[in-house]
Amino acid sequence: MSRRYLVTGGTGFLGAALVQKLVRDGHSVRVLDNNWRGNPRRLAGIEDRIELHVGDIRDPQAVRRAVDGVECVVHMSAINGTRYFYEQPELVIDVAIRGMLTVIDACRDARVRELVVASSSEAYQSPMQVPTPENVPLVVPDIRNPRYSYGGSKLASELIALNYGRTDFDRVVIFRPHNVYGADMGFEHIVPEFSVRAAEADLVTKPGLPLTLSLKGDGGQTRAFIYVDDFTDGLATVVARGEHLNVYHIGNPEEVTIRCVAELIVETFGRQAIIEAGPAPLGETQRRCPDIGKVQALGWSPRISLQDGLPSVVRWYRDHPELRPLRDSGESK
Ligand SMILES: NC(=O)c1ccc[n+]([C@@H]2O[C@H](COP(=O)([O-])OP(=O)(O)OC[C@H]3O[C@@H](n4cnc5c(N)ncnc54)[C@H](O)[C@@H]3O)[C@@H](O)[C@H]2O)c1
Repeated sequence: MSRRYLVTGGTGFLGAALVQKLVRDGHSVRVLDNNWRGNPRRLAGIEDRIELHVGDIRDPQAVRRAVDGVECVVHMSAINGTRYFYEQPELVIDVAIRGMLTVIDACRDARVRELVVASSSEAYQSPMQVPTPENVPLVVPDIRNPRYSYGGSKLASELIALNYGRTDFDRVVIFRPHNVYGADMGFEHIVPEFSVRAAEADLVTKPGLPLTLSLKGDGGQTRAFIYVDDFTDGLATVVARGEHLNVYHIGNPEEVTIRCVAELIVETFGRQAIIEAGPAPLGETQRRCPDIGKVQALGWSPRISLQDGLPSVVRWYRDHPELRPLRDSGESK
């Protein structure tokens, strides 16, 4: 059945992927984004089939116009990209908290009864249990570390959505993505960062010689990466069938070390890797891997391994030097 959706943050990496899928599946979609980090090029091919509103998620009038007449809002706008958590923590919190409240108010005013909200695995930081289920405590380990502006603001957004959402909504659902990767995902994450550095080293290193990548930390930290197509199918499942006042992890429980990711990326260039350890940033999580039993019970599972998903993404970053930011890349995620 065709439905009317608003996707906030819809020119961003994950928002645009969802918009593309919803349109392919025959739904009517409106997008709200101020293009702070998003780019309409991600909606290439469907420009004529969506309604794009350029506006700020903290602007009540812009948000009220954007929610008008839709049946479900998928709220994904945020300041994402780890370097910004350290460099612009006030903006991270402002967009998250004012944005969340503005979306709730607008939905109530326009009688939109369904709201799906993007949180993050960073809301629980360093969990006691790995793989991590949805019911572990959410924590801010050090209130003075700007890094936690992001995880803390996601924690607060979950609180706001689930508690304000108890009234006036038929369905309020939270999802927590776990390290999604794909082409055109921005540059402020480890997969793009390593891909760009390996591509640059490949250009200046004699054929047959190994490539050197230096890491932040010793590379022993683990993450679980999910390919964007898998993620988008998982998100579409949560949007369609997630239950009222529930939280769902969306990820691929294939736990790998950061060192292993670096090696896989270098292998894409047909070379061996020399991995160098460096100083670790303050406040990094040592292990992260989601338990996805809850979303699997809705009928979805990831299908693409890191080994299969990574090469095309690395090549995309190698082949688009014109899109690389001039500034230094930020901390890894
Ligand atoms: N990519 C991941 O692996 C990941 C992991 C955990 C959580 N998330 C969450 O999923 C959502 C989407 O992430 P993404 O990777 O697509 O990030 P992204 O940065 O590509 O997308 C976020 C979008 O929000 C927009 N935005 C920022 N400030 C805004 C404002 N004031 N008004 C309107 N729009 C604004 C940006 O322009 C951007 O298009 C975010 O809420 C993010 O926190 C992503």
